[in-house]
Amino acid sequence: MHPPVPANRSERVHDVDAAIRQTDSDAALARLSAVRKGYLNDRFISSLVPRAQLQPLRPPLINTGTYVRSEAIDRLVEQWLELSKPEGQLCQIVSLGAGSDTRFWRLMDGPWKEQIGAYFELDFPDVTLKKAMAIRNPRSGLSTTLGHSELDLGGQALHSSRYHLLPCDLRNPPADIFPGLFKEYLSPALPTLLLFECVLVYMSPEASSTLIQWFVDFFSPSTHTPLPGTLGCTVYEMFGLEDAFGRVMMNNLRARNVSLPGAKPYPSLESLPARFLRHGFTSAKALTLRNIRSNYIEPSELERTSSLEMLDEVEELNLVLEHYAITWAMKASSAATISPWIEWGLRPVKQA
Ligand SMILES: C[S@@+](CC[C@H](N)C(=O)[O-])C[C@H]1O[C@@H](n2cnc3c(N)ncnc32)[C@H](O)[C@@H]1O
Repeated sequence: MHPPVPANRSERVHDVDAAIRQTDSDAALARLSAVRKGYLNDRFISSLVPRAQLQPLRPPLINTGTYVRSEAIDRLVEQWLELSKPEGQLCQIVSLGAGSDTRFWRLMDGPWKEQIGAYFELDFPDVTLKKAMAIRNPRSGLSTTLGHSELDLGGQALHSSRYHLLPCDLRNPPADIFPGLFKEYLSPALPTLLLFECVLVYMSPEASSTLIQWFVDFFSPSTHTPLPGTLGCTVYEMFGLEDAFGRVMMNNLRARNVSLPGAKPYPSLESLPARFLRHGFTSAKALTLRNIRSNYIEPSELERTSSLEMLDEVEELNLVLEHYAITWAMKASSAATISPWIEWGLRPVKQA
């Protein structure tokens, strides 16, 4: 839903990942647009987009898609934090390919603040360097939420009591990079939610499988941690790109030097949860954004957002939303710890 801006020829030659990193600006601009048009509330996003007031608004179709995915993932995250409350446990959230996401600041502004034990954001070093600079800019106000923070790794990493910004290439073997990056900050004992918002699709299926397996192993019983925390995952990305729509999308992206190797094993909605069941997850489910918009958003919200701007292309909207899905999966560390996590997931709203 965020077509990247084309990379020029010299960038293509010298830095094949520039176009992938550019997708972060596209996602941030889409969010900023949805906020300015009144779809979403986010008082932090403008601090992470240079010259925010001068940025063009995105078309209604993009604003609607951004709203639906954002609402659905917010709900999954908030529910995860809510479920951990009766357990008396703090949660960890790890956002992989976090880019300019503002979720940490939004959560710290709301009722789930006390539930967050640690929040990690991982991305390419260039992206984390830019984000660390924005956070440390006193005019952004972002560092107030963090309290005392320290830069590390030449300004590419930032640590505070709860928030950690970590630079890496997620395609590298996690066993080589994660122990040094997470150090002792990531605990195997706490319920932990992984967020993959539009990132796995840029990686090979082998690299994303190795990445997920590293977390599965980290949250498996060991002599040090006989009862590890429950592991949750949410993934937002495109799928089913083998049809005419998908071929056009792939060609457009290829012209902009972006390929989607991670989309290949996912020709259908059913194939999305299978990714997690293969890694031994206890439960997994996926829904298209079209289904979420129709059946999982409160009718009053649907009415409110539909009245924000004229959306002529309803068929086109539905076609696009049918090619994006949100998957969520949960892995309990033992049969005794399945409850209450089995409750976790999007629930359809009651139709009037
Ligand atoms: C489409 S953006 C999404 C950003 C954010 N998750 C959101 O939804 O707003 C994809 C992000 O994944 C990051 N990314 C993609 N491949 C990566 C990799 N191999 N290692 C680290 N980050 C990666 C990009 O730099 C970019 O910030």
